[in-house]
Amino acid sequence: MNIKIIETAVCPKCNGSGWELTETIGKVRRCSCLESARVGKLLAEARIPKRYEHCDLDSYLPNHESQKTAKRFVQHFTKQYPQVDGGLMFLGPCGVGKTHLAVSLLKLVIRESGDSGLFYDFRDLLREIQASWNSVSQTSEMEVLRPVLEAKILILDELGANKPTEWVRETIAHIINCRYNDKRVTIFTSNYLDSVGKPGEESLTDRIGTRLRSRLYEMCRDLEMRGIDFRQEIRQSKNSVYKRQSEI
Ligand SMILES: Nc1ncnc2c1ncn2[C@@H]1O[C@H](COP(=O)(O)OP(=O)(O)OP(=O)(O)O)[C@@H](O)[C@H]1O
Ligand SMILES: [Mg+2]
Ligand SMILES: [Zn+2]
Repeated sequence: MNIKIIETAVCPKCNGSGWELTETIGKVRRCSCLESARVGKLLAEARIPKRYEHCDLDSYLPNHESQKTAKRFVQHFTKQYPQVDGGLMFLGPCGVGKTHLAVSLLKLVIRESGDSGLFYDFRDLLREIQASWNSVSQTSEMEVLRPVLEAKILILDELGANKPTEWVRETIAHIINCRYNDKRVTIFTSNYLDSVGKPGEESLTDRIGTRLRSRLYEMCRDLEMRGIDFRQEIRQSKNSVYKRQSEI
């Protein structure tokens, strides 16, 4: 007969009870594995996209002064949290690592403070708000809005990627305002800047509206990032590996 032994990871400190013995005979304390399990659950619930799960500060290698500054800000922010004065807004072109830094920050805050956090792509949030819109009650379902309103720290990635309709703009402004009033931290990323380089280009205000942009000036510190598109770097290094392999 073939007997399979299934091994489950039982905490060696508390044998899975959640309580560990202290130096004082007969006294117990809560085991640290409970906190690790809670943090693991928070990270799993944070909606961090698979592609960015590996991101952390150590793997972020700045190749421009503005990227060094942004990384330093993230380090400072995570050390200070929750004693922080508002959020951050990473602005800049594609591939400079805005989402990488935002995810690194989110993971660090969740791990070190045990606070709840959420990652949302702006377009997904708009889609979900629109889908849950109830034309009878003229409201969006709280099922979608509650976690976004209540997360202690929210990453809103790709702000302005979609041009929202007036009522969606109002809903977003409502979310951001509520979070601001409740002193919850929101971190944004966007490809749109305040000043436009070429004629015909749109600014962040063009994309999200004057009122929302104005609110964000007050809520966040802007970190404008420049540099080369890291995705091109990744592709080039992959290509040279393929080339080397094909030469062997
Ligand atoms: N300085 C860096 N060091 C290491 N990896 C980086 C760096 N910058 C970017 N990356 C990596 O390059 C890829 C693209 O970065 P990311 O998605 O964060 O860019 P982005 O600025 O958010 O771009 P977009 O505006 O297109 O959203 C990711 O895999 C990220 O981990
Ligand atoms: Mg991004
Ligand atoms: Zn334990």
